[in-house]
Amino acid sequence: MLPFHRAVESDFLAVNDLIINQLHSDVGLVENIGQYIVDAGGKRLRPLLVLLAANACGYQGKRHVELAAIIEFIHTATLLHDDVVDTSDMRRGRATANARWGNAPSVLVGDFLYSRAFQMLVAIGDMEIMSILADTTNLISEGEVQQLINAGNPDISEADYFEVIRKKTAQLFEAAAQAGAVLATENSQQREAMKLYGRHLGLAFQLVDDALDYQGNAEELGKNVGDDLAEGKPTLPLLAAMRLGNDQQAATIREAIKEAQLDKLEQVVEIVKQTGALDYTMEKAQQQVDTAKQQLSQLPDSPLLKTLEELVNFSIARTY
Ligand code: IPE
Ligand code: IPE
Ligand code: MG
Ligand code: MG
Repeated sequence: MLPFHRAVESDFLAVNDLIINQLHSDVGLVENIGQYIVDAGGKRLRPLLVLLAANACGYQGKRHVELAAIIEFIHTATLLHDDVVDTSDMRRGRATANARWGNAPSVLVGDFLYSRAFQMLVAIGDMEIMSILADTTNLISEGEVQQLINAGNPDISEADYFEVIRKKTAQLFEAAAQAGAVLATENSQQREAMKLYGRHLGLAFQLVDDALDYQGNAEELGKNVGDDLAEGKPTLPLLAAMRLGNDQQAATIREAIKEAQLDKLEQVVEIVKQTGALDYTMEKAQQQVDTAKQQLSQLPDSPLLKTLEELVNFSIARTY
């Protein structure tokens, strides 16, 4: 548990229990793979965000615990699918499900988790929240497809990159925060502030993730570094390095994106550091952090505002 989880500790423990209970399936393989990825933990930031958003907006009921588990199931489903698509072999400090069981079971169990999330959502029975999450899963898929189309293409713009990360990552943070607020309050100003807080937190989170793919430590991250390069993903550190670097550096990065091979990783890491491309990426993340924090002035005063601030600070300072 990270320090900010403690602010909503009893709710958070209830979410963890619910996640385990709701993994149940009569089909052994479904349960095994589900448990395998869930047992590995993960930071559980998105369910935390649901709890914080609901509580910060004065929620008194119990539905936020279910909503938090739903969001974590959707997240976990996207990870199972994403690791197949990215051919990643390490996640949460373990072999990925696709490395261990193969692609087909990973995709199918991802579908199981998605649909379990929607079963639980129906039990909550709130059309507005259902609509937020239906749109969210749709946008995440679209973002992942756009990223796939962009792979190997060094000529995409920064705006293209931001569109992808907004959909594939920030959207789920946004939905977590927004849906938590929708449960809690009718106040549209507060709902909007929570939604934007989630979006900008999510953008910062993915920008940092993309920087960590070049400067992180695999053991600490629990996933491999260099995976983005191996897929030829034109992430911001590479786009910035082509713009900031000299002709030769730019040409090396272009080739590395087109070839989508890890053999140039060391050279690429050197270039993204030397050209200031990683610094630039972190500056962009800092801007998102600032925008996220600005939203907090619209929310009712409570000790949870400090926790929401700590969560954004973590998104940029994190090494895992
Ligand atoms: C991983 O998210 C996917 C991205 C959006 C980068 P997290 O880093 O939150 O994954 P876990 O849940 O903690 O493993
Ligand atoms: C994360 O994408 C977004 C989703 C899983 C939808 P990445 O591919 O950048 O995340 P990691 O690096 O595999 O965690
Ligand atoms: Mg991936
Ligand atoms: Mg990544």
